[in-house]
Amino acid sequence: MPITREFTSGLPKAELHVHIEGTLEPDLKLKLAQRNHIDIGQQTVEEVQKTYDYDDLASFLAVYYPAMDVLQKEQDFYDLAFAYLERAATNNVRHVEMFFDPQAHTSRGIAFETVLHGLHRAIVDARALNIDAALIMCFLRDFTSESARQTLVEALPYKDQLVGVGLDSDEHNNPPLKFARQFADAAAAGLHLTAHADIDQKDSIEHIRQALEIIGVERLDHGTNIVEDPDLVDFVSKNQIGLTSCPLSNAFISPEMKGKEVLELLAKGVKVSIHSDDPAYFGGYIADNYYAIASKFDLTKEQVVQLAKNSFESSWISKEQKALYLKELDEYVATH
Ligand code: HPA
Ligand code: ZN
Repeated sequence: MPITREFTSGLPKAELHVHIEGTLEPDLKLKLAQRNHIDIGQQTVEEVQKTYDYDDLASFLAVYYPAMDVLQKEQDFYDLAFAYLERAATNNVRHVEMFFDPQAHTSRGIAFETVLHGLHRAIVDARALNIDAALIMCFLRDFTSESARQTLVEALPYKDQLVGVGLDSDEHNNPPLKFARQFADAAAAGLHLTAHADIDQKDSIEHIRQALEIIGVERLDHGTNIVEDPDLVDFVSKNQIGLTSCPLSNAFISPEMKGKEVLELLAKGVKVSIHSDDPAYFGGYIADNYYAIASKFDLTKEQVVQLAKNSFESSWISKEQKALYLKELDEYVATH
């Protein structure tokens, strides 16, 4: 029987690859622009959507970063994160580890605390929605390593409000190794490590190798180009490294949305899982991403359930929490 949209919506799951700034929906963007007296050049949702014209990482980021101008006050960051968590709860996301990009805000004069306090307060309040969430602070890889160092110094007094650090933005000529020192310092402070390995980059395999063998990341975000190197596939399989794949964001770059690679990794026992990346920009939240890959590649129920299982297993929660979520997943599967 084909997987239904309802099945993917109700499936208990963890969201491990969502950029909170990428959940800024056009209507909230317009509302915040008005509230903060910022002219973004568009007046309607349709006009905003017309600017969403991209076919690779660089052309996407050129639309994505300027839009963040509307985020000015702590309440704006709160509203952004709370709106996302409400939507995630309707997708039966049980646990979220969300990325945020402090440098995208501090570089335009917004204090680090403004960003963090707003996001953190939304996470605390969203517990009433029966969803638990944590923050992963990303370094912008097209900024200098000195800028990353300063960002980590600002963040460490608040490390209890972070679960890990990540690496995002433009990968072209920005290898993980550029941030080796900052990753080591973050790990020494007890933070988990992940890094983007965007799809079909100039140096995809070399960047994946650096992230795994030198930086020591516990997950790779995207990372599906790894199938080109069987030794690295063995490495992530043996070491239970999670790969967070995002079909609808992949579809903007590669029409096959890396579905074959996800299935190959799944068959090899790699902890690959499905996520939404920047859902307000790529046309769907996490359940839509599950449904997109399941329907296009005729996934079996077992494969879809394994993807959800992998999302909990590669999340940064305690084994007790994992056991509870996995039991909930088993119960769902038994009754649907
Ligand atoms: N890759 C790199 N940077 C990003 C992404 C992504 O998928 N989304 C938001 N920033
Ligand atoms: Zn991403």
